[in-house]
Amino acid sequence: MKYGYFDDQKREYVITQPDTPLPWINYLGCQAYFGIISNTAGGYSFYRDARLRRITRYRYNNAPFDLGGRYVYLRDDASGEFWSPSWQPTRHKLEEYSCRQGMGYTTIGSKYKGIEARTRYFVPLDENLEIWQLTVTNLREQAAELSVFSVIEFCLWDAQDDSTNFQRNFSIGQVEIEDGVIYHKTEYRERRDHFAYFACSEKLAGYESQREAFLGAYRGWENPVAVERGHETNSVAHGWAPVGSHHVKISLKPGESRQVVFVLGYQENPREEKFDPPDSQIINKKSAKAVIAKYRVAANADAAFKKLTDYWNELLGLCQVDTPDVHTNRMVNIWNAYQCMATFNMSRSASFYESGIGRGLGFRDSNQDLLGFVHMVPERARERILDLAATQLPSGGAYHQYQPLTKRGNNDVGSGFNDDPHWLIIGVSAYIKETGDWGILDEAVPYDNAAGSETPLYEHLQRSFRYTLERLGPHGLPLIGRADWNDCLNLNCFSDTPGQSFQTTTNKEGKVAESVFIAGLFLVAGRELADIAKHRGLGKEACSYLCEVTKMEKTIREHGWDGEWFIRAYDDFSRKVGSKENAEGKIFIETQGFCTLAGVGLEDGLAARALESTRKMLATKHGIVLQQPAYSKYYLEYGEISSYPPGYKENAGIFCHNNPWVMIGETRVGNGDQAHDYYTRINPSAREEISEVHRCEPYVYAQMIAGRDAATHGEAKNSWLTGTAAWNYYAITQWILGIRTSFDGLLIAPVIPKSWKGFKVSRKFRGVTYQIEVQRAGDGNQVALEVNGAAVQGNLVPLPAAGTKTVSVKATLR
Ligand code: GLC
Ligand code: GLC
Repeated sequence: MKYGYFDDQKREYVITQPDTPLPWINYLGCQAYFGIISNTAGGYSFYRDARLRRITRYRYNNAPFDLGGRYVYLRDDASGEFWSPSWQPTRHKLEEYSCRQGMGYTTIGSKYKGIEARTRYFVPLDENLEIWQLTVTNLREQAAELSVFSVIEFCLWDAQDDSTNFQRNFSIGQVEIEDGVIYHKTEYRERRDHFAYFACSEKLAGYESQREAFLGAYRGWENPVAVERGHETNSVAHGWAPVGSHHVKISLKPGESRQVVFVLGYQENPREEKFDPPDSQIINKKSAKAVIAKYRVAANADAAFKKLTDYWNELLGLCQVDTPDVHTNRMVNIWNAYQCMATFNMSRSASFYESGIGRGLGFRDSNQDLLGFVHMVPERARERILDLAATQLPSGGAYHQYQPLTKRGNNDVGSGFNDDPHWLIIGVSAYIKETGDWGILDEAVPYDNAAGSETPLYEHLQRSFRYTLERLGPHGLPLIGRADWNDCLNLNCFSDTPGQSFQTTTNKEGKVAESVFIAGLFLVAGRELADIAKHRGLGKEACSYLCEVTKMEKTIREHGWDGEWFIRAYDDFSRKVGSKENAEGKIFIETQGFCTLAGVGLEDGLAARALESTRKMLATKHGIVLQQPAYSKYYLEYGEISSYPPGYKENAGIFCHNNPWVMIGETRVGNGDQAHDYYTRINPSAREEISEVHRCEPYVYAQMIAGRDAATHGEAKNSWLTGTAAWNYYAITQWILGIRTSFDGLLIAPVIPKSWKGFKVSRKFRGVTYQIEVQRAGDGNQVALEVNGAAVQGNLVPLPAAGTKTVSVKATLR
């Protein structure tokens, strides 16, 4: 069953029914001011850091699931009836409803008793504010006397503290009201230099800034007393719960439309200029007033919206494909790329499943995210890489996370995730391949942010690689540490205490448990590093890396192969994990994916066998599950993985992040049909038809789809912020369509389904637009290239002469 449809022309998903199985959300903002908005206008806003600068309040895990947001109420002043044009919070049965989730904006509109109302929400580029443009139209045959009410609830900045420290918070709330603008200034009188404001374009009939005055005692958002009564009391919040609400009266003739603009923003003042007059306690509103004046004008709001649309058109225009599969086209051209930008901006901090107070930027996650967005914002990718590298430790290890506001490593989580360092090598090499910016390797970057410890970035990569060599276990495989990619395979944890963190508790020395996954990752990172070293003229060093890679590959074949598939790990007793010898968890996806994508056993059939076992034992129609059989009980020696009920999350859920590894593995053995089939199984657009099963948004990936052992097999959870976005983008564009960046130029190496006659790609690469056309002339994956009409040996498009704007490439597959 569907709840809407894709409007690919406009790059929108149009939701036509407000009661989607779960809230279907979107992101506003792409620089510093951000918002999350659901299809019924739920959600919240923040500046840079979702925990420390939360602008509006939001209560997670509410009932209903999504409540609180950017609400507008309409009231028919003749009858006294009122409703919400975004359905929530009053939940009136609307005659028409649609929510258009677009690139950086959301438009929610509806019709009720002849009144049409549509609100477009967006954050203009280069501004720290959001705009709600509400258009109300009277479709009745008589004039309409209406009241419009807006409302948001301010958060007292630190979202964690805001939801816990009530004995203080109930007394500190402060606002100022001037010219109908509600300024939220809690803690401004002491150590904060920032405030928020909520303004309206129209003359007000009234306002409220105290929640209880707006709602009334013992009432909720669905029937605020102010709206029911039809007027506001101009309350000024002292303590309790500051809100912002405007009341505007409008009279509409038949057929007439009116626009009302609301502006919600964030403003910082220089410390010396906080107050006006200087010796007062009154906010200096000079800069805020200027932006408010600007965006109160509908034409200026429209112009800002146009700029935003141009921005997204340009970003998405960098890579556009035209294949025989609508789901591939739609995800690559629009939604998957868009989601990659969301993961870049948010990492894993704020979604409807990440509360914005928990996780900073992950070292491993952020490096992998690069694979999906580096072509869109290379300068920001560069900055991200340098920030990440600056949290690396002198040992080559890394803080597992850092806080975006301070850019410092997070001590609570610490380090010791032994896969982390390799992701830096992979991230840096993806960046150089895309940009050709070898200079980044010479940037001086500190360790653990300590001044004086700087070395060239290149040395960070050398240390990353060495980190593993200095930490090999009894079989010569990398020691796993706290965890590798799978945060929940905690082989040194042995926790029997409720509530203890599986990721930070270690009860073992960690000298025994080994990871075959890190071994596979080591092969990939080692080869990248060798290429980089060669490029720097360090031939001998490059050889030594390749030598270690060859050794590790041999070790994988000796100690990491179980007969029909790759073993996952060795536990603290040096027993196999992910082997036929295990009663549960006999086979894991991670090593089948990563070892085959690293090319282990391509020549002698090991890779093909591992992929065959994956197909037989792990693949379901909803995607490939993480392991089988699921753990049916808690294993002290495996940790969090066995804490999840069977079929969910890492315990045999379909963890969509790692499915692309198997897709890439399939391309390496030349099996385009299987690769694309796996791609389609988890492609959200292809799953739109079964939205009642999938439940999450059909336009973005979710972290997990419940596995076959779960009661709700096929149900997605944790949408938006997941490495799934980058990895699927990377797998489809670079390995299945095979338009692959390399140090020396673009490679054309498609491994597509046999039934495809071909496809076209327009790809901007290092400033040049490549118009690529691939045609099938046979069943295989052999490529014959023509560049600008001339045949070229091999499958690398040579870098064109400086100043070239476009290159045309024809590839014939045989
Ligand atoms: C989450 C984490 C990621 C980890 C994965 C598997 O998605 O963000 O770092 O690799 O889970 O446990
Ligand atoms: C939990 C989740 C895992 C995530 C980790 C991050 O262990 O299961 O997916 O990576 O938390 O801290």
